[in-house]
Amino acid sequence: LTVLMLWAVLGYLLGSIPFGMVLAKAMGLGNLRDIGSGNIGATNVLRTGSKKAAALTLLLDGAKGAVAVLLARSLVGEDAAQVAGLMAFIGHCYPVWLKFKGGKGVATFLGLMLALAWPVGIACCLTWLVGAALFRISSLAALLAAGSSTLWMVFLGHSNAFVLGVILTIIVFWRHRDNIRRMREGTEPKIGQKS
Ligand code: G3P
Repeated sequence: LTVLMLWAVLGYLLGSIPFGMVLAKAMGLGNLRDIGSGNIGATNVLRTGSKKAAALTLLLDGAKGAVAVLLARSLVGEDAAQVAGLMAFIGHCYPVWLKFKGGKGVATFLGLMLALAWPVGIACCLTWLVGAALFRISSLAALLAAGSSTLWMVFLGHSNAFVLGVILTIIVFWRHRDNIRRMREGTEPKIGQKS
């Protein structure tokens, strides 16, 4: 149990690095809190106009989840991998450094899923891409990707991650509650649109 708790803390610390915020500042793009949705993720970084910063944010926020899973798996095992992945995701959504006001977890979710069960990860990424191509709304694509993750687990034979998938899905939906409200009002911006 102490080993799992150690990986929970390590996963959390890794996940809590707000790459979007750091990159936007470092690249002189401004404070993400004053831009678009105010979120620290790649979707909002794209609203600064920098595709490069957005792609880097997506990559690094995804890598946090993947690295947490791969490290814990290689040093301990599958249980630690799930704990580290979940806590990296929680760290991104609720980072101590930003008074627990973090991101929506989508990139980190995709990264940890790719590392944990790559067929499920790929299926979720494809679901995001299809959703984004059809609707041009990042949050909707994210809800489709997270919402379908447990189905992919069952279909692709990774039901051992089912409980984790349910927890991640619930948090992703909770973190997108403003987006869901905006979608219902018809005011949710399309990908790349400023506000
Ligand atoms: O990854 C977060 C995305 O799903 C929504 O971001 O900035 O449009 O709230 P945003």
